[in-house]
Amino acid sequence: MKRQFVLGAASVALVMGMAACQRDGAPAPEAAKPATAAPAGGEASTTALSASAAATPVIPRPAKVEAREGRFVFGPQARIAVAGDNAEATRIAHDFAARVQQARGFTPQVGGAGDGAAVVFAIDPAIAPAGDEAYVVDITPQGVKVSARAPAGLFYGAVTLWQLLADGAQGEASIAAQRIEDAPRFGWRGVMLDVARHFRTPDEVKEVLDQMALHKLNTFHWHLTDDQGWRIQIKQYPKLTEVGGCRIPAGAAGVDAKGKPKPYCGFYTQDEIRDVVKYAADRYITVVPEIDLPGHAQAAIASYPELGVTGKAPPVSPDWGIHTWLFNVDDGTFKFLENVLDEVMPLFPGKYIHLGGDEAAKDQWQASPAVQAKKNELGLKDEMQLQTWFMGRLGKYIEGHGKRLLGWDEILEGGPPADATVMSWRGTDGAIEAARAGHDVVLSPSPALYLNHIQSDAADETPGRADVISLKSVYDFQVVPVQLNAEQTKHVLGAQGNLWTEHHRTQQRVERGLFPRAAALAEATWTPDDRKDWNDFLQRMAFETQRYRLTGFDAADSAFAVRFTPQPAADGKATLALSNQTNFGVLRYTLDGSEPTAQSPQYTHPLELPLPTTVKANAYVDGRALAATRTFALDTRSVLARSSNRLRACKGDLLLRMEDDAPAQADGERQLLTADVFDPCWIYDDAPLDGIATLQVRVGQLPHNFQLWKDSKLVVTRPAKIEGGALEVRLGSCEGEPIAVLPLAPARKSAGLTTLEAPLPTQAGRHDLCFTFASGEYNPMWVVDEVTLLPAAR
Ligand code: ACM
Repeated sequence: MKRQFVLGAASVALVMGMAACQRDGAPAPEAAKPATAAPAGGEASTTALSASAAATPVIPRPAKVEAREGRFVFGPQARIAVAGDNAEATRIAHDFAARVQQARGFTPQVGGAGDGAAVVFAIDPAIAPAGDEAYVVDITPQGVKVSARAPAGLFYGAVTLWQLLADGAQGEASIAAQRIEDAPRFGWRGVMLDVARHFRTPDEVKEVLDQMALHKLNTFHWHLTDDQGWRIQIKQYPKLTEVGGCRIPAGAAGVDAKGKPKPYCGFYTQDEIRDVVKYAADRYITVVPEIDLPGHAQAAIASYPELGVTGKAPPVSPDWGIHTWLFNVDDGTFKFLENVLDEVMPLFPGKYIHLGGDEAAKDQWQASPAVQAKKNELGLKDEMQLQTWFMGRLGKYIEGHGKRLLGWDEILEGGPPADATVMSWRGTDGAIEAARAGHDVVLSPSPALYLNHIQSDAADETPGRADVISLKSVYDFQVVPVQLNAEQTKHVLGAQGNLWTEHHRTQQRVERGLFPRAAALAEATWTPDDRKDWNDFLQRMAFETQRYRLTGFDAADSAFAVRFTPQPAADGKATLALSNQTNFGVLRYTLDGSEPTAQSPQYTHPLELPLPTTVKANAYVDGRALAATRTFALDTRSVLARSSNRLRACKGDLLLRMEDDAPAQADGERQLLTADVFDPCWIYDDAPLDGIATLQVRVGQLPHNFQLWKDSKLVVTRPAKIEGGALEVRLGSCEGEPIAVLPLAPARKSAGLTTLEAPLPTQAGRHDLCFTFASGEYNPMWVVDEVTLLPAAR
């Protein structure tokens, strides 16, 4: 159905900037299932949890678990003792006690002698698994001992114990006796958050950090600067945040009710950064800051135009994609960047500073006599070598201050600076090349670990890149490329999931974008390969879902949520198939508008229902709901309606699920629309046209705010044939004469969505319908929100 990505190498990089490539084009296996996939429920689904998942519902799965006889009862009288006089171990014990309070509603006392204590925390250099992050949790019916060689391991032991008792029930907890010996497979278990495209407050970042810690993820890559915003205070250069910290968003979102520009702003003071870094360190998370160079620099150049190549001041960008504003290469700019780094480095105690290096379109350097003169003076062959020199000069600077350079894999192109660590994002080729050349690497390939991709094709999925990266595909990610030999594999530090936030305007979207896929990544980076097991992971996810609820974290439930696939049936009825993405759990439903429960009727085969009927459904395992209830109002209209996420893109080269920019609805929500921003063209596959007399199409306009660099020529516009343009509908293919033409004039009156209607000439049978806009415009871009087929009145 979907084409391979068609653009050339440079263009692939471009498209990835928005951000993620479609290099291999194939959606994740479950995503490829048609909406009419075999329903879940019945024999294939899971009704009860396995004994091992119920006894050790820990994510990531521990390296070694030995079951024991009996159970340990942990109740309100429990006391926690800390062996030795270790202040950090005591802090960890108090943190654990507070988490027990949140999970079970009682606070164990911390302190006193080991004898008689329910739980003992001990730093013990002699425990079997090696490493600072290793730990042992030994549970007998008499008590628990959590031991580790170092505080990080002790913290992880406490997290494991918390996971064993945070099952959603209150009061006394009964934990299966067992011995867990655990240590991570990789030292870099990361998440990247882009706060340039959409800003997150320090408290919101802390919510992410806390959830990372509860999954033993230990590296937070903070993408702090980009074309759309500079988000870190630099005291010597206040305009970086005064000017560079604000942009005027594109389209209707960029003006207030009176039509005045409405800036979008945000930055962190250095005190706030220190506070977040400490919060992370308390959870054994290292923060890696990214200052993106020499491209993705438009916000900086907007603040200080002399840093750019042209001397002109661009706006802080309201657009997504590849921008062409580069830092120049003169000594003044290096002095500026060194001064910036002088302020950045002391804020981040970790060893890495990420200096970007991605997607630096070289047009401005090529066009500048001054830059060319510098290149020639340095004896460099081309602009890639110039970029290597640029990165290397700053790399040396930070190395002189005890730090190490980390950069996106483009830094390989001109030969990477000697000690650079490479973050491979354009697939895994960069990782392979870098490891073979003796560089340390972190895997964060697009699209496999690009968490800005949507995770299911459900109607209520959050926006983002619209090619599905599912929970399972993240789970299945193999950190070490098979091409590497044992020696080269030693350079693989680990992996990281990246959340670019062009389409993640809210914290809810960030939380859903990250988790639970970051839980799958935690297992891919922590658990030994031979202990990874998708079915077992799903079983443990039933507990994980409870833990998200407990911690108030808004993780996505896309893998388990019920989706509905209606089909028209005879006698004014319809059939409705229920399914979920993972086929995990028993699906249960109600037909009377009430909330489903674990006792509601079980779904086994498509339901034949009268119209209208309201169907509510959820997936359950062992009485636990796996998702939020989903509701489907089945009626004459909804049976044949398709929203844009269920229409097929004609090409789908850059398919995005975007939000409407018109004023939000009363509940603060905005309509979500899926379109290919290169070629907005949709197909309603196999539309049942018997008896259909009318076509209704809800349409809207979105700003086409994409900097497409050399690919702008690929944007398809179709000339208007009537005044004001029209939506054209074709039968069978997108060629030939339209069978319906819906003028856009009525839709031009509103910034929101408008329903257009046209008679449809009678057709027998099922046919594809193709929808394109003949308007002569690409910005704003016309988009289809929903197509509905209406029968002739009976
Ligand atoms: C990237 O996605 N531009 C690293």
